[in-house]
Amino acid sequence: MTDASLPPAVSQTMPPASALVDRFGRVHTDLRLSVTDRCTLRCTYCMPLDATFRPREELLTDDECIRVATVAARLGVRSIRVTGGEPLLRPGLAGLVARLVALPGMEEVALTTNGLLLAQQAEGLFAAGLSRLNVSLDALSEEVFERVARAGGLERVLAGLAEAKRIGFRAIRINAVSIRGLTESEIVPLASFCRREGFHLRFIEFMPLDADSTWSNEKVLSGAEVREILEREVGAVLPRPRTDPSQPAVDFDFADGAGSVGFIDPVSAPFCGQCDRLRLTADGQLRNCLFSTVEWDARGLLRRGGAPLDIDGALATMLRDCVQAKHAAHGIGAADFHKPQRAMYQIGG
Ligand code: 5AD
Ligand code: SF4
Repeated sequence: MTDASLPPAVSQTMPPASALVDRFGRVHTDLRLSVTDRCTLRCTYCMPLDATFRPREELLTDDECIRVATVAARLGVRSIRVTGGEPLLRPGLAGLVARLVALPGMEEVALTTNGLLLAQQAEGLFAAGLSRLNVSLDALSEEVFERVARAGGLERVLAGLAEAKRIGFRAIRINAVSIRGLTESEIVPLASFCRREGFHLRFIEFMPLDADSTWSNEKVLSGAEVREILEREVGAVLPRPRTDPSQPAVDFDFADGAGSVGFIDPVSAPFCGQCDRLRLTADGQLRNCLFSTVEWDARGLLRRGGAPLDIDGALATMLRDCVQAKHAAHGIGAADFHKPQRAMYQIGG
């Protein structure tokens, strides 16, 4: 007999004991997997111009990535975002994606790319079962593109996008980092382009993850400001009901029915309270936050030798420890905020 006035049994409300739940009750179901720190561009907000890269032997092999992802999936990770650096620079990427897609329990494997090598690789990635494609594109004018990326390549990104669409990728997302003094002139062209092509445009506030330490609060062009420009110059937007509470973007549809736009506002409206993300850097370090100052050495563990079952058990403990140590919020803007040692290209977006 059950008494309806009693709270539900603990087993109904508690996540499984194995799940990656932190001290604040956040359940971790998303892993950002960086597969390289190299890149074909040198975006100011991500990399120094004279970036140096880890020697290949320090990067996790495909087998090692799969090993960590398998243990993470056992602990409840359901989506993996492959990132970099520029992930398409990793040899044999489609093969790795296919293996990630095949992991038991995996619901979505997405990829974030700068698009330069996409025309050549879109078909292989689509065949590998990649669910979603995010393409970084900050500008449609060559001049602004090159000021941000410190390299050319706009035409190749556009060709890559066209090819990805032709091959059958749906719901392609365009990520544009919004920086005051750079992005303003690009907002309307990007919106028009995405509305025409059926891409979902997302503006991401500039975060202090650049290597040159040029970030300042004043350089953050907020999502609210971008939205105001869009509403004034393109047309009204209507909020879209939120389906996934852990999704950082706040999405809108254009009221005329043509297209959508989202805002990721980590600086003006932090969403840490709903964070479900863990990160594995290309050199095998686990992080619980973009801004974490501590890392867990999964590569060391994988390479130290021992029985496979023991390694898996130790990886599971490491994943749980990493989640347990997670802070409530990133603290950008607070007096005691410290920028992480690593820049974005060394962490993975
Ligand atoms: N601030 C905001 N977004 C950034 N990205 C890279 N560096 C930064 C930064 N400092 C974005 C890239 C990519 C996504 C993974 O993160 O544009 O689209
Ligand atoms: Fe490369 Fe992306 Fe960093 Fe730009 S933001 S330098 S495209 S990894």
